[in-house]
Formats: sequence, structure tokens, C-alpha cells
Amino acid sequence: LRLFLDTADRDAWSRWLPTGLFHGVTTNPTILARSGLSCTIETLTPLLRRCLDYPVAEIQAQCWGTETDALIETGLALAAIDPRMVVKVPITENGIRAVARLHAHGVRTTLTAVYAVHQAVTAAAAGSDYVAPYFGRIGDSGRDAFATIDAMRAVLRHAGDRTRLLVASLRQADDLAALCAAGCDTFTFSPAVAEQLFADPQTVEAAATFERMAAGL
Ligand code: E4P
Repeated sequence: LRLFLDTADRDAWSRWLPTGLFHGVTTNPTILARSGLSCTIETLTPLLRRCLDYPVAEIQAQCWGTETDALIETGLALAAIDPRMVVKVPITENGIRAVARLHAHGVRTTLTAVYAVHQAVTAAAAGSDYVAPYFGRIGDSGRDAFATIDAMRAVLRHAGDRTRLLVASLRQADDLAALCAAGCDTFTFSPAVAEQLFADPQTVEAAATFERMAAGL
């Protein structure tokens, strides 16, 4: 099982990464903007180095640029930060070209912004390390997100044993559990979903009762 925390928020890192639950952290330009951070190598290098002080096996950061060369340049700069970096690349035509070049440099990649089952085929053919479907957004668009993810799993079972399905855009802890029960093993989710993992009212009440009893109340 691999869980990633989908945020660039330093307070969230300090709260959740020491729990030891997370294999790593994922970010993208939208997540950076949400934390008031610019998407530049000058900003990202010190930021991600601080994240690497936590016990994380991987940090996934997204390259940017409308042209292939820009994606490669920003991707290589991100990869140079640390061997634990994985470079996220949108699954566009330019993105796929960039992935081929990044792999030639020994850089690990995640193809992201994935909505359609055939994109899992593309990711497998590209030999990407991860492919990241947007579970919540697929549902937002009126499609059956569970069925879509299940079909992607089938594609990767048959065609892409090198490519790992990283389910993103998860908004509910219950969806995380259901997808895990269905066979998915790699997820990224926000600190809000991490909070849901500890919000079961019966557990909260049981823990409070233990404390009352321990205090002899
Ligand atoms: C992942 O790369 C995306 O940031 C994220 O999972 C999207 O989540 P959202 O659809 O809830 O914004």
C-alpha cells in the first residue's frame, strides 16, 4: 500500500507526515497556487528539500511548460533536487514526448490528469512508473468513477506491469476504503481526507472514555 499526501502546505506536512502513514507527497501547480506558492524552481527547490526532511520515500512534483522542451527542462530540474523525486507530467502529446526523454535521463515519472481508460494504455506503453486518474473529477463529469478505475486496473494487469495506478482526486475516506477493497493500492489525498481517517465518532468517544477511566473520573 502506498499513500501520498496531496498538498504543499507545510503545516499539513508537519501534522501528517510524522504519522508514518504516508509513502510520500504529491503536488501540482494548482496545489502550489492554493498554498500561495509560485511554480518556479527557485521556490520549489527549498520547499521540497524541507519536505524531504520528513520520512518520505518519494515526492512527486509536476513539471510545467506548454512545449515539450520546457516540460523536460523543468522536469530535469525537479529530478535534480533529490533521488526521491518523481516527476508528474500531464498526459498530453507533448507530455508523452517529455516522459520519453525524462526516462532516457533515468527520471521516474507519473502521467497525470487522467480521465479515460485508454489513457492507462498510453501510460503503460510509455512505461511510466505511475498513472494518476482523477477519481473525484471523473465522478463530477457524470461517469461511473469506480467502473473507470476498475477498467484501468484491468488494462494495467494485462498491459502494464511496470505502471502503478495512483488514484488521485479522492475526497472521501469511504471511497479510499472501497477502492482499496476492490484491489487498488496507491492513492493520493488531501489533508481533509486524512482528517476523515481519524473522525469516526465511536472511536473518538471510546478514546475519550479510556482517558476518563485512566484519570479515575
Ligand atoms: C492530483 O494531482 C490532484 O491535485 C487532485 O487529486 C485533484 O483533486 P480535486 O479534484 O479534489 O481537486
